[in-house]
Amino acid sequence: MEVIIHKSYEAMSRAAAQAVAEVMNAKPNAVLGLATGSTPLALYQELARMHEEEGLDFRRVTTFNLDEYVGLPQHHEQSYHYFMQENFFNHVNIPPENTNVPSGTTHNYKSFCEWYEKRIKDVGGIDVQILGIGSDGHIAFNEPGSSLSSRTRLKTLAKPTIDDNARFFKSREEVPIYAITMGVGTILEARKLVMVANGPKKADAIAAAVEGPVSSMITASALQLHPDAEVFLDEPAASKLKMREYYEWIQLKKPGAPRV
Ligand code: PGA
Repeated sequence: MEVIIHKSYEAMSRAAAQAVAEVMNAKPNAVLGLATGSTPLALYQELARMHEEEGLDFRRVTTFNLDEYVGLPQHHEQSYHYFMQENFFNHVNIPPENTNVPSGTTHNYKSFCEWYEKRIKDVGGIDVQILGIGSDGHIAFNEPGSSLSSRTRLKTLAKPTIDDNARFFKSREEVPIYAITMGVGTILEARKLVMVANGPKKADAIAAAVEGPVSSMITASALQLHPDAEVFLDEPAASKLKMREYYEWIQLKKPGAPRV
């Protein structure tokens, strides 16, 4: 795992966007795994800026989102369909038919989840998966106790997640209790993982995920099992890492490292 610490949220987001853009530059028909939440907002803005100003091309890109609330129709302002449309898809040239967000309103969740997994395989798998982290250490909606080999399925949200997400709804009672989410196993199959986390509220979860034991209690710790996982942090999110100096030393010495 590579830990990359930046002074600010903006700098961290630019660096993470650059990592995603490099995958797209190497493979114009890249398959991107996308995340929602407040953390990746600036990353999406930077990708949109690169599209606008530098010609970063999404025409041949396919995307898969991690998760969606159960019960929210696509046009609901808090649905992840709506979030992606407003915050990303409307700002780049991705064909709508190339975007995939799990359905929150299917009549058969089990079949839908199997179809979603198959669709990811059919396009050749995800090249780079963007991830946030929950304050309870989750990736996507893989709450504590989720199997590290889980696949796309229906999950019951944990109370801390409902509390965290209540800020987007009029009241806590309106936050959906269930979600459909890619599994940890699904996520680990992506060829590259790019995690972003900022702010002091994420410091404990990041320390547990990066330096704690691999455990289904902190599903983000599964990143330790992945051969190409990059974790982009601002300083407050990195503040509880014991090995922080070493991570900074690695980044400092990177330009001089032998390349072949
Ligand atoms: P946030 O959510 O970016 O809104 O903090 C992160 C997550 O729960 O994955």
